[in-house]
Amino acid sequence: MKTALILNGPNLNLLGTREPAVYGSQTLADVEKLCERACTANGFALDFRQTNHEGTLVDWLHEAGKLHAKGKLAGVILNAGAYTHTSVALHDAIKGTGITLIELHISNVHAREEFRHHSYISPAAKAVMAGFGVNGYALAVAGLAGMQ
Ligand code: DQA
Repeated sequence: MKTALILNGPNLNLLGTREPAVYGSQTLADVEKLCERACTANGFALDFRQTNHEGTLVDWLHEAGKLHAKGKLAGVILNAGAYTHTSVALHDAIKGTGITLIELHISNVHAREEFRHHSYISPAAKAVMAGFGVNGYALAVAGLAGMQ
């Protein structure tokens, strides 16, 4: 069974209380449960993580690259939070590993402030998901299944 690695970046640990009008009222633990159900339905093992640190995300992408090389990775779903709009390091890490990666945002970043319109992740991603709320995570898992 291949693994779907779902990575969450800064401030996503605050889901549930953070700007609920934008991100909804479900917590990160709720999102993990939703991902667990989606992965079971699609025949993936789930590895679900969150960090507030850019370098940790880079390390986890390298880890994903090693799993990919062994044929054990279905792909990565990455909500890089604000690092989406700033991080050349994440862009380079994705490109350097050859992994299949779906960029995910809970909100529709293109309907928000202009500084959220540019993504360093998108040019290195296989697909982009934005604006479906936390249900986007389940949709991205199904999308990943369709890419196998
Ligand atoms: C986000 C959108 C980003 O612009 C923001 O910095 C986040 C969350 C989203 O899921 O909608 O932290 O990635």
